[in-house]
Amino acid sequence: MKELTMQDLVAFCKTTGLIYPGSEIYGGLSNSWDYGPLGVELKNNIKAAWWRRFVQQEPNNVGLDSAIIANPKIWEASGHLSSFTDPLMDCRACKSRHRADKLIEEWVAAQEKQGKKIDAKSSEAMTDAEMEEFIKQNKIACPVCGKTEQFTPIRKFNLMFKTFIGVTEDAKSTVYLRPETCACIFTNFKNVLRSTRAKLPMGICQIGKSFRNEITPGNFIFRTREFEQMEMEFFCHPNDSEKFFTHYRKECMEFCKSIGLDPQKLRFRDHEKEELSFYSKATTDIEFNYPFGFSELWGIANRTNYDLTKHQQFSGEDLTYTDPFTNEKYIPYVIEPSVGVDRLLLAVLCSAYTVEELPDNDSRIVLKLNKNLAPIKVAVLPLSKKLEEKALQVYKTLSKTFRTQYDVTGSIGKRYRRQDEIGTPYCVTVDFDTETDNSVTVRDRDSMQQVRVKLDELEDWLTKNLK
Ligand code: GAP
Repeated sequence: MKELTMQDLVAFCKTTGLIYPGSEIYGGLSNSWDYGPLGVELKNNIKAAWWRRFVQQEPNNVGLDSAIIANPKIWEASGHLSSFTDPLMDCRACKSRHRADKLIEEWVAAQEKQGKKIDAKSSEAMTDAEMEEFIKQNKIACPVCGKTEQFTPIRKFNLMFKTFIGVTEDAKSTVYLRPETCACIFTNFKNVLRSTRAKLPMGICQIGKSFRNEITPGNFIFRTREFEQMEMEFFCHPNDSEKFFTHYRKECMEFCKSIGLDPQKLRFRDHEKEELSFYSKATTDIEFNYPFGFSELWGIANRTNYDLTKHQQFSGEDLTYTDPFTNEKYIPYVIEPSVGVDRLLLAVLCSAYTVEELPDNDSRIVLKLNKNLAPIKVAVLPLSKKLEEKALQVYKTLSKTFRTQYDVTGSIGKRYRRQDEIGTPYCVTVDFDTETDNSVTVRDRDSMQQVRVKLDELEDWLTKNLK
């Protein structure tokens, strides 16, 4: 089977109504994407699955929905104002801009693809001087114009989007769009503890938009400037942090598999010691093999007590926890599993997209999505326009429980193909026998097998089979 390319996927997402290029009628806006009627359903289902797993099914976890624009002191305390930067290099020849660490990463990946072994530490672990030297020594070329030794020295570029609140545009009214959702989880730690009377260990989870002025966005929805994150900050005793880090590392991988990511395309990558942030005790990425190669999907980090300590220092608020049983007072450690919704959705699509060869030189595209995630759960298809009245009744009943689509145009074969392409698990066909036997034909997306189901049992049948 031909391998799926990013180009194929972008085109497929546009035609099916999953994802459109942003601002398209005005010529677009670089690397912005709009989720269409099916994309928004898929995205909501992914978020709901994550929420069910990490909030609903964990007795000690709760949710939060904090503001995107927060007091800028938060970013001073977290270190984002001073050090949330990327190493930027310009090509003097063609004026294109690049991230030095990515230039190295991509060059190493290309060499390894050709079977060459590169003995160097990860670019994330290199200093700026080391990156400049590595690029020079290996004559890494500009990916745009192909010239070598034309890069400027590295400049630090802060990734936070700046804006102003109120009418004056000065330093005092400067605020930032949050670059990650977790910061206000830390600042609400005491509020949540007080209002829920929770005891540690406990997790606070949040889904929301984050913004980063990425120098090199790209690969469709993999790296964008506006994206959604699903983050959990799990607060625990320092002595328990390794245990919970191991636990969530495993749980996140299990979750990926449970929502249908191809296990062959998943792997762990533990960060090397030199690569770790100074405050992190351990970090693991779950990587996915996208059409452009393995790259980060989900980061799981033991952030120690760094964030709460910093916010305590900058706000003057006491953020310690007193254990009600032992009276021990301490600043909790935090285990943080953090994943991008868009990146997860991309991995879901790459795992589900299948071109299947059929007899008689025929083929079909089928999106083998986990049924839970499918944007449309059931399609109601009258065999003939004459059967519309009955079919609309069926549609009306089913749509109270399931996201249902009604389709009357084209041959039944074409309509099945359309539903296969968008991953609809079941098609319900109302035919000329329906009036007499009060039954419909239900077709399974994956096996294409058809069964006859009584109309008064249809809802229960679908509920059972959509599990
Ligand atoms: N609070 C920790 C944090 O934000 P991160 O590794 O910078 O850590 C976490 O981001 C996850 O967010 C990543 O693993 C990725 O899934 C997603 N993510 C980060 N930057 C992104 C971007 N520019 N576009 C899409 N997703 C992004």
